[in-house]
Amino acid sequence: MSKKPIIVFEGIEGTGKSHHIKNVANYLKIKKIKFIQIREPGGSANSEKIRNLILDNKSTFNKETDLLLYLSARSENIEIIRKNSGKKIILIDRFTDSTIAYQHYGMGVNLKFIQSINNHILRNVKIDFTFLNTVNLTNMKERLRLRKKLNRYDKFDSKFYEKVQNGFLKILKKRPKKYIKINSNLDINLNENIILNKINDLI
Ligand code: TMP
Repeated sequence: MSKKPIIVFEGIEGTGKSHHIKNVANYLKIKKIKFIQIREPGGSANSEKIRNLILDNKSTFNKETDLLLYLSARSENIEIIRKNSGKKIILIDRFTDSTIAYQHYGMGVNLKFIQSINNHILRNVKIDFTFLNTVNLTNMKERLRLRKKLNRYDKFDSKFYEKVQNGFLKILKKRPKKYIKINSNLDINLNENIILNKINDLI
């Protein structure tokens, strides 16, 4: 595996993935190791514009339009990934698995359709490792309740997030060596250590 791996943080709302990606970024900064950090949807200036459109509470797109917007955002920031691939560690807050988990397992959009556009956009870009953060639905709801601002994708019912999380777990089962499941119901410091230990193995 490249010593400048592409590492993705996945999981439903309230799993603490953004906390952990920040923690890893701080760790790499302290160690003076070069990396870039992006998020999806978002990442580049153009993708951030698309992000605002998708997640705006006033938007009422159907599920296929949402899919195409998420993929449009990816198509814009893939250039950043390609440019840095092999040169710097790349940390990504959500990537292709989110599209399969939310748009296919959550919303029922055709899997082959999603995979075919994903493959077209990614071409030779390969994810080296994924931290899949999980949470039970009680903790998820409580953590969402504490958020000051909720976007359009923070407002589905629990059943939806359950389907999405089960979808993530199905993806993990297909390639278990490329994933670690992080149980965010457990102690956050314990999980930080698990993640940093794995990061040290990867870099
Ligand atoms: P977040 O930045 O808080 O994680 O919010 C982004 C939302 O977008 C989150 O609910 C997951 C959703 N999403 C999809 O539905 N499909 C995708 O492909 C991606 C990248 C995100």
